[in-house]
Parts: sequence; structure tokens; C-alpha cells
Amino acid sequence: MTDLIPLSDGLDDIVAAETVLSEVDGAHGRLVIRGRPVQSLAGAESFENVAHLLWSGFFDALPPPPLFARALGQARARVFAETHALDVRLLTLEPVDAMRALVARLPDGDGLETALDLLAAPAVFLPAILRARAGLHPLAPDPARGHADDMLRMLTNRESPALAAALDAYLVTASDHGLNASTFAARVVASTHSGLTSSVVAGIGALKGPLHGGAPGPVIEMLDGIGTAENARAWIEAALDRGDRLMGFGHRVYRVRDPRADALKGAVERLIESSNALPGRLALAKAVEDAAIDILRKRKPNRSLDVNVELYTALLLEALAFPPEAFTPVFATARTAGWIAHAREQRMKGRLIRPQSRYVGPTPLPDAA
Ligand code: ACO
Repeated sequence: MTDLIPLSDGLDDIVAAETVLSEVDGAHGRLVIRGRPVQSLAGAESFENVAHLLWSGFFDALPPPPLFARALGQARARVFAETHALDVRLLTLEPVDAMRALVARLPDGDGLETALDLLAAPAVFLPAILRARAGLHPLAPDPARGHADDMLRMLTNRESPALAAALDAYLVTASDHGLNASTFAARVVASTHSGLTSSVVAGIGALKGPLHGGAPGPVIEMLDGIGTAENARAWIEAALDRGDRLMGFGHRVYRVRDPRADALKGAVERLIESSNALPGRLALAKAVEDAAIDILRKRKPNRSLDVNVELYTALLLEALAFPPEAFTPVFATARTAGWIAHAREQRMKGRLIRPQSRYVGPTPLPDAA
């Protein structure tokens, strides 16, 4: 009888998996990825190295980091052939949906080659989608380059070590984050012994919602709407009066500041130092952050609402020339590393995930005599 089982709508405080991959400590604002605080990885390790760290122990014959990076480059070259499937119909979709459709075409499986193709795919598909939307041909990958560097080059046809370093820091910061909604979706699929492609497609589907990975695009709309630092308080008060949520604030787990916000703020500051881009935008974001936190504390004194990862994600990705509609697919590019690791962990150690529901619908009428 499910009436006797306590209902947990949203599954808050339910532990549904044991993982060696990452720990989200919401009370202290800490994110640890395989034993390393996220701040010590972002800006210090490449995305390839962090993907390797996440996947260690989950694949037979995982090559050591330099060879892993090379294998990922070769996977980018392999999946590039799939960009031929980008047709007019796919280009009418949002970039995240076009990306999901292209990823779904990849063969399903559990091996390392499937995993590498899936990790490579978003970094190849997104630039191709964005260029096709602008009437431009896709640029082929260069397997010898770093993943972030190559992704940016395939988008802009330009080289910039400073911009590539900023994207690398973003991809590392967003690579894994405990049992968030998209990772849970990926693990549910893996728990049925379906393949990695199915898990990643499920992850993209869950990620794109505005309560999860779909927030940074609306953050740009919010910053544009606010316009100037002086306007921040009035704009925020009016938005909250309308019952709107402030994009880039609040989190289900963090009760203090999201540590990824600071990792990304650092990356934005390094970018400003090296390229002198964005100083006005950063000042506006800081003013919005200060005003929003102050107002949210006054309005919701019982709910600790602070900045989350999406505010500085939006700033960083905007500086890298990604349009707002591409922010969620860039997030997926990073999180695919985590989804694959979690799917493998679930497959190797977990059970079929099958919770129960409590029926509250109408009782069947007794059979007519
Ligand atoms: N702006 C205004 N009020 C908020 C916000 C916000 N951003 N976030 C939460 N609240 C309020 C809610 O209205 C609610 O108030 P109430 O109790 O008076 O009804 C209270 O705080 C608690 O809200 P919940 O919905 O219980 O918070 P939950 O933990 O479910 O939500 C979420 C977390 C979805 C992230 C929420 O904070 C939100 O909608 N934020 C804006 C969207 C966003 O930034 N998403 C990205 C999250 S980070 C990530 O997934 C990568």
C-alpha cells in the first residue's frame, strides 16, 4: 500500500544513488569532483583531463590523459560526418533540439568508442548548427587541438587562446554536479541497461528546461531588460511583484552561494584582463547580483536564495560569441562528461530505478451486475 510510504514530491532529501563522481555540499557551498574542489580544476585542468578523471574506472582500457585527448580529437573528426544530416527542418528547431536530434542518430552502446563519440558530438554539432543557421558551411574539426579550442574555432573560424581558456574553464565547471535532474534522467535510462546514447539524449531533454539548464539565456534577457546598474533594484522589485523568478538565483541544493558561480566569475575576470572584453557587462552583473540577493533576503527571509551558476555562465558564454539560444547546448557539451560517467556507474553498480506512485484518481465503480 503506497499510502503508508511518505510522499516526496521532487525527491528532496532522497538519496537515490551512491557515487564516487561528485559531491554537492549545499550547506557549505562546496562542489567536489572526484576528490578535487571545482575551483582547483577550473582554469587549471583541461576539459579532456576532467572527463578522463570522471571516467576513470568506468571503462576498460581507458587511455592515459594525453592519448585520451587525442582519441577525443579523433572522435570529433568521426562524428563530423553526422553534420550532413542537418537539414532545413532541423534548422527550424531551437539549437538544443537540433543537437538532441543529431545526437540521437548516433549508434547506442556501452563501449569507450560510443562514449568518446558522444562526448565529442556536442562540440562538433553546435558550431555546425549555429553556422548553418547563419548560412555558413560547417568547419571540420582539427583533432590535434584541445576540445574547447577546437569547438570555438569551429564556431568562429578564429583562434584565441584567451577565449579558448575561458570556454575550457566553463566546460570543466559544468562537467558534473551530483544527482541533478538531467543526471538522474541519464541514470534512470542506464538503470534499464539501455545504452549511453539513450542516456545522453535523456540528459539533454531534462537539461533544457528553464528550471535546470535553460536559465542562462533568460539571464541575458534579464540583464538587457535591466540595462544599467541604477535600474537593478526597481526592475527586480517589479519582476518579483509580478511573481516572476529571477533567473540565475536560487538552487534546490545550495543554501549558500553556488561555488561554480565564483569559479566562473574568476574565468570572466581573467578574460577581461587578457582581452579587455565585457568590463561594463561584469559591473552590471555584479550590481544585479548584489541587489537581487538583498531583495530576495528581505522578501523570503526563510529561504536562503543566492546566486547560482547561470548568472556568470551567461556572461562568459556571451563574451565567447555564443548567442543566448546556444547556452543550453554548451552546457550539454560539458555535462555529457558527467552523464556518461554516471550512466556507467549506474550500469556497473546500481539497480533498476523504479519508484512508486500513489494513486489519487477516481475509484473504479463496482462492476454492474
Ligand atoms: N527568484 C525568485 N524567487 C525564487 C527563486 C528565484 N530565482 N528561486 C526560488 N524562489 C522562491 C520561490 O518562489 C519559493 O517561494 P515561496 O516559498 O514563497 O513559494 C521559494 O523561493 C522556494 O522555491 P522552490 O521552488 O521550492 O525552490 P526550488 O528549490 O524548487 O527551486 C530553482 C530551485 C528551480 C532553481 C529555483 O530557485 C528557480 O526557479 N530559479 C530560477 C531559475 C534558475 O536560475 N535555474 C537554474 C538553476 S541552476 C542549474 O540547474 C544548473
